[in-house]
Amino acid sequence: MKKEYKPVHGMWTSRWVFILAATGSAVGLGNIWRFPYITGEYGGGAFVVLYLLCIALMGIPIMVAEVMLGRRGGLSPIHTMSKLAEQSKVTRRWAGIGYLGALSGFLILSFYSAVASWALIYVWEAAQGVFQGITAVQSKAHYEDMLANPWLLLGSHTLFMVITMGVVALGVKQGLERAVRVLMPVLFALLVVLIGYASTTPGFAEGVGFLFAFDFSKLSGEAVIVALGQAFFTLSLGMGAIMAYGAYMPREIKDKSGRSRPVSIVSSVITIAVLDTLVALGAGLAMFPLLFTGGLEVGQGPGMMFVTLPLAFGQMPGGLLFGTLFFVLVVCAAWSSSISLGEPMAAWLVERGLGRGTAALAVGLAAWLLGVGSVLSFNVWKEHEFLVGTFFDNIEFLSTSVMLPLGGLLIAIFAGWVMKETHARKELAMKSFPLYLIWRALVRVVSPTAVIALFIYSLWSVLA
Ligand code: PFF
Ligand code: NA
Repeated sequence: MKKEYKPVHGMWTSRWVFILAATGSAVGLGNIWRFPYITGEYGGGAFVVLYLLCIALMGIPIMVAEVMLGRRGGLSPIHTMSKLAEQSKVTRRWAGIGYLGALSGFLILSFYSAVASWALIYVWEAAQGVFQGITAVQSKAHYEDMLANPWLLLGSHTLFMVITMGVVALGVKQGLERAVRVLMPVLFALLVVLIGYASTTPGFAEGVGFLFAFDFSKLSGEAVIVALGQAFFTLSLGMGAIMAYGAYMPREIKDKSGRSRPVSIVSSVITIAVLDTLVALGAGLAMFPLLFTGGLEVGQGPGMMFVTLPLAFGQMPGGLLFGTLFFVLVVCAAWSSSISLGEPMAAWLVERGLGRGTAALAVGLAAWLLGVGSVLSFNVWKEHEFLVGTFFDNIEFLSTSVMLPLGGLLIAIFAGWVMKETHARKELAMKSFPLYLIWRALVRVVSPTAVIALFIYSLWSVLA
C-alpha cells in the first residue's frame, strides 16, 4: 500500500513572509563570503558577467520552477517529487531529484557551518576591539592564526550547528519570520556604509575596475563551471530548499477588502533574485577596493572577507560598533540560510513520522560530523590534498559546482517537459501570457541547454 503523506509543516502568513524567508535563504555566505572570493580567484569582471547571465537565464526560471513544484506538491522535496511524478504518470524515480537535493543540502550544510563559525568568532573579536588600527599584513596573519586553532573552530562550528537546528526544531515559521524582517534592511544599510567607506580609500577605482572590467581572455573552463555553481548556490537552487519553502506558500490570500487574490510566484522570485544580486555586488564593491588599497592579492581565497573587512572597521569612525554589528549580521544571514539547508531533510523525516526535534537532531548531528572534516581542512588536514584540493574544497566543489547544477537541470526538465502543462500553468497563474511563454521557453530549452553546454565545455577544457 502506498502511503499518503500529508503536509504537516504549516503555511506562511503572506506572500511577503515567503519572500522574506526565501530571501533569508538566498542571502548568506554565498553573497558576502563566497561571491567576492571566487570573483577574485577567477579574474573579476568577465566572471561577474558570466555569473549574471547564469542568474538571468537559469537561476530565475529554475527558481520559478522550484517554487511552482513545491507549492503544487505541498510536501518536503522528496515526497513532493514522488507525488508530482505520480500525478504526471511517470516513474516515481523522479523522487531522485529530492534525494539528490537532500544529499547536496547535507554536504553544503556541513561546510557552511564550518565557515559561518569563523564569522561567529569574528563577532566576539570585533567587539573586543581586536581589529582597531590593524594593518593588512596583521589582518591576514590574524585570520591565519584563527584557522590554525582547531579547537576554537570546533567549538564555534558546534555552536552554529546548534542554533541552526534549534530553529529547524521549532519549525521554520516561529522565529525566522520576525528575524528576517529586521535583519535584512539592517544588512543592506551596513553594506552601504561599507561601500561608502571603501569609496574613500585610494584603491576604490581599481577595485571597481576589477569587478566590472570585462576581460574575457581571463576566463577558463573551471571559471565557467564555478560561475554556474555560484548562480545556483547563491539563489539556494537545485537542492529543494526553495521547493520546501514554496510548499509553505499559500495559493491565495485575502486582501484588505476580503477578496481572495492569487499569490504570484514570478514576481516573488524576481524580487528575491534582485535582492540577492544586489547584496553580492555590494559585498564585492565593499571588499575589492580594500584589497587594492592594502596591497593584498585579489586571489585571497576563502579568507577574503575575513582579511579585508577588519581593515575597514579598524580605520573608520565607529568601526568597533559597525564591525561587531556587521559580523553579527553575517552570522544571522548565514543562519537564515543554513536553516533552509536543513529544512528539506528534516521535513522529510517529519513526514515519515519522526518528531521535529528528533528529525532536526539527526540531521544536525550528521552534518556536524561531516563538517568536522571541513574544520580540519584548514589546519590539521591542510596539507592533505586530493582531487580538487582539501577535504573542504572537494565537498564544496562537488556539492556546489556539480550537484546543484545537476539538480537544477533535472528540476527544469521535470517542470518543462514531464509535468502536464495545464498543471504548471494553473499553479503559476501568470497574468501575462507572453511572460509565461518566455518562462516556458527558458525552462524547457534555454536553461537545460545552457547547463549541459557549460558542463561539457568546462569538463572538456579541464581535461584538455
Ligand atoms: N543561498 C545561500 C547563500 O548564498 O549563502 C546558500 C544556500 C542556502 C545554498 C540554501 C543552498 C541552499 F539550499
Ligand atoms: Na545568496
